[in-house]
Amino acid sequence: MSTIIQVAYLIAAFFFAFGLKMMSSPSTARRGNFFSALGMLLTIVVTLLHQEIVQYQWILVGMVLGLLLGTIAAVRVPLTSMPELVAVFNGLGGLASLLVGWEAYNQQQHQLSWFLATTISLTILIGGLTFSGSMLAWAKLKGVKFKALELSQPLRFSGQQILNTLFLIGILVLGISFSFEPQGNQWLLLGLIGGALLLGLTVVMPIGGADMPIVISLLNSYSGLAACTVGFVMLNNILIVAGALVGASGLILTNIMCKAMNRSLSNVLFSGFGSIVVKESKLTQGEIRPISAADAYLVIEAAQSVVFVPGYGLAVAQAQHGVRELGELLESNGCEVRYAIHPVAGRMPGHMNVLLAEANVPYDQFVEIEDVNPKMEMVDVCIVIGANDVVNPAARDDSSSPIHGMPIIEVDRSRVVIILKRSMAKGFAGIDNPLFHSHNSRMLFGDAKNSIQAMIGEFKRS
Ligand code: TAP
Repeated sequence: MSTIIQVAYLIAAFFFAFGLKMMSSPSTARRGNFFSALGMLLTIVVTLLHQEIVQYQWILVGMVLGLLLGTIAAVRVPLTSMPELVAVFNGLGGLASLLVGWEAYNQQQHQLSWFLATTISLTILIGGLTFSGSMLAWAKLKGVKFKALELSQPLRFSGQQILNTLFLIGILVLGISFSFEPQGNQWLLLGLIGGALLLGLTVVMPIGGADMPIVISLLNSYSGLAACTVGFVMLNNILIVAGALVGASGLILTNIMCKAMNRSLSNVLFSGFGSIVVKESKLTQGEIRPISAADAYLVIEAAQSVVFVPGYGLAVAQAQHGVRELGELLESNGCEVRYAIHPVAGRMPGHMNVLLAEANVPYDQFVEIEDVNPKMEMVDVCIVIGANDVVNPAARDDSSSPIHGMPIIEVDRSRVVIILKRSMAKGFAGIDNPLFHSHNSRMLFGDAKNSIQAMIGEFKRS
């Protein structure tokens, strides 16, 4: 039986790796998801054949509970709240690892080897900090407030980094002491749990604003690492492989997001986004020029090339189907249509890709920032649909801006920019956007879906 289980685990590991590879392209992502799920199904089925695990009735209770909670979350949580949900998933993964580590200690405390004690310490350290850090990240994304204290803001105090470093050293001393002398030293493990939980909070506290996606993907990677160390605790090969895959892919995603925002990871973790007091920039002075849907139609009707730039507001308005229809009308009018997607547009990695794919926008019309920016002067019209931070020229022009250095889609360099949003409200990073005051910008105020429909109406009437 053991050989069958190990062979099945090997096949499942292949499915995971193959599925992940396929997820790197929008055209194969769905099949990739299917293959990975197949791998997971195989893993669960063969693990259930392993008679030494707990009684089946407990597994059934867990599965029913998980199914219920998962279904409720899938039905009720909107796509725009996915990062919060992912933060909770990461946190629960970390907590599960911590609990397994604790249980492994309780079951084997009289015959703990040095290796097992070390893996238990690591599991508890990574699992604990992933749990508390993810819960704080969830509260930050949710905008939870305690009286005057806004958790979404970076929470900083002087000497914070020194305190964190001392704290980390203390935790490492506890972990190493426990690994060398585990017998009868339960208090060391309890100290490690408390320390790991506190460390998760103090590491995430100073982070806020536009840096949150990076932290979420880093915590995602930690939850994978915690699962991997659990694999060593339980000597379970598939947990080691799956945990390592999640850990590595989370790190790769973190790296991609850091690049997309032109930040180093240490800068994100230690600089405290938004703690800089933002002075009103000279760039945000100047007239605002509103435009009606009828006039916007006249502009785009005459355009030879149009680039759509979707952002978070597209998801809120659910305007993706209208955008595709407008794109098709423009194309049949002889216009070249493209879609420029910023890697951190929206509220989760690939958010805009998912929405546009749902509306069947052809993949070959998607363009990368580095391909569209150099040719921006030749673009007749950029239509910005509920995007704000990802098109903010302050990131390029204002060295005092908190997002300075983050690559943007340089729509302000096109001939005309039509910006669809409801008001002059700020984006996720909470900073002003000089684009709205630019001489070539026109603000089409209103819900993005309604504005798009109004332009489609004009096309159909003409
Ligand atoms: P944001 O900068 O957040 O701006 C979105 C804009 O959409 C707002 O200014 C809002 O203005 C507008 N909007 C909202 N509802 C709308 C509606 N129904 N119709 C029309 N407009 C609407 O979005 P972005 O440019 O996509 O940038 C994303 C930001 O989120 C970045 O700062 C990024 O770092 C952060 N973030 C990203 C992720 C990932 S992984 N993608 C995760 C978490 C955070 P009005 O209220 O005036 O309409």
